[in-house]
Amino acid sequence: MTTPDQTGAEALWDNLPRAIEWRDGDLFLMDQTRLPQDAPMQRQDTAQDVWDAIKQLKVRGAPAIGVAAAYGLCVALKPYRDGAPDDFREKIARQAEFLDSSRPTAVNLGWALRRMQARAARETAADAAALYDALVDEAEAIHAEDQALCRGMAEAGADLIRPGMGVLTHCNAGALATSGAGTATAPMYLAHARGVAFRVYADETRPLLQGARITSWELQRAGIDVTLITDNMAAHMMASGEIDLVITGTDRVAANGDVANKIGTLGVAILARHFGVPFYVACPSSTIDMDCPTGAEIPIEERAGEEVTSFGARRTAPEGIKTRNPAFDVTPNDMVAGLITERGIVRAPYAHNLAALFAREAAE
Ligand code: MRU
Repeated sequence: MTTPDQTGAEALWDNLPRAIEWRDGDLFLMDQTRLPQDAPMQRQDTAQDVWDAIKQLKVRGAPAIGVAAAYGLCVALKPYRDGAPDDFREKIARQAEFLDSSRPTAVNLGWALRRMQARAARETAADAAALYDALVDEAEAIHAEDQALCRGMAEAGADLIRPGMGVLTHCNAGALATSGAGTATAPMYLAHARGVAFRVYADETRPLLQGARITSWELQRAGIDVTLITDNMAAHMMASGEIDLVITGTDRVAANGDVANKIGTLGVAILARHFGVPFYVACPSSTIDMDCPTGAEIPIEERAGEEVTSFGARRTAPEGIKTRNPAFDVTPNDMVAGLITERGIVRAPYAHNLAALFAREAAE
């Protein structure tokens, strides 16, 4: 039986913007660098197109990067469908390695590509065309599962958001960072569908403004009460008592619960601890890296200095100025109130409880 609550949520899921589409054997990615003015879907014809789209953040956000890379492998291999199967298998490994080199921090990229390669290794098909079809099937499965993971996080986290609350988020861990309702935004979308009245504060997120350009765009589009603030306003908003809860996404959770996310997240976590605001991180199991012991081992992407010396198209710093541009930081596990996963909220002790989560998953 459908409850009114489910009906609202279904309508909401159906109306979310989509970052990734696989249509009639072709991959289309929204160019998110053009938001909020424009949101063109662009066909990706080569592995280089997909690599560039990931590197340039046309497609971004850990889960979306994983799904795009899985389809990207299909795009890369499509021209070789009529060739020799041994040659096709050799190209799978080479193209996967190439796509994996586009960005280092989001574990979903390597995770999805390893899963695609494992599928190919299991396939006994004697011809390249059948192997290609199996890879498309696996990419579609990763895509569909990512949507389901978002729904799971929505269910797990929605009750954290109570009437009247102010909820701060950083960067974009929204619909456009995934194939569904996002990670950090999934509980927000569901709470909104259930009629809970709350406010979201979106950090602008310098240097590339994912909060301003993407989060505020997609939440406003969904009718959620969203207020944009610059990153340096978060402390004041917490001091003023306007923020009751923080929910962010993550690019990689280490086995001990340390969390890598967009640069600036650590600052938000420190503020949250100071002001006694619970700091939650939403993460599908595809973003938890049990092979990475602690946050110290998470590779942090360093991007071009031009992103720091300009604001949009305008140069804002002197020529020749030295810059640093780490794209992510690591929040220690003891600052995290809970990890909102598709299987419920995981709390400290993280090393023990994350291991138990994966053991349960393996047993099912
Ligand atoms: O550089 P980006 O835009 O890819 O960074 C995105 C983030 O940091 C997100 O918070 C993270 O990937 C989680 S997305 C559900």
